[in-house]
Amino acid sequence: MYEKEIKRVLFTKEQIAARVKELGEEISRDYAGESVTMVCTLRGATIFFADLVREIKCDVEIDFVACSSYGSGTTTSGEVKMQKDLSSPIEGKNVIVVEDIIDTGTTLLALTRLLKTRNPKSLKVCSFLDKPSRRKVDFKGDYIGFEIENEFVIGYGLDYNQKFRNLPEVCILAPEVYMPDLNKAL
Ligand code: IMP
Ligand code: MG
Repeated sequence: MYEKEIKRVLFTKEQIAARVKELGEEISRDYAGESVTMVCTLRGATIFFADLVREIKCDVEIDFVACSSYGSGTTTSGEVKMQKDLSSPIEGKNVIVVEDIIDTGTTLLALTRLLKTRNPKSLKVCSFLDKPSRRKVDFKGDYIGFEIENEFVIGYGLDYNQKFRNLPEVCILAPEVYMPDLNKAL
């Protein structure tokens, strides 16, 4: 499936599972004896989130938030909108925001600024992927699955125009898909 759209597989199911397990162990050690509210950013982080929370061996609560800085396509609009807020207050709680990828950093900078105003006991960010070379604002995640180069990736929850989220691997999207002129040049 998707032979034309996929340039190559970047991380296999096995590589992903091994790294998610490690992240879960690290978080379990850091929050040993405490409770932690894991906040999933919809929709890209859902699959990572579901795997990650099952690797955490402390008391976990889950909640969901939706923000968007992207229209359709592969570049950010720079504007962040909160489309769905948390269901419960986070005052006095340990909170970890779980994201699919940190790209320009715009979304997480805005989201963490907002969540800090609600006085959580602690606030950290766990992102499955990080593209540090693309950063436009000063933002650093606390737990990172993999650092990647400046390429548009799909699968394991990540989409291109809402497609490909169900791919079990992380793949590099063929540039012909978002730059159709390349096709003509070939
Ligand atoms: P930022 O605000 O620029 O850091 O944007 C982060 C959001 O952009 C992520 O939550 C993704 O939804 C989206 N995004 C950035 N890079 C990629 C990518 O390579 N594949 C799929 N989505 C991406
Ligand atoms: Mg996202």
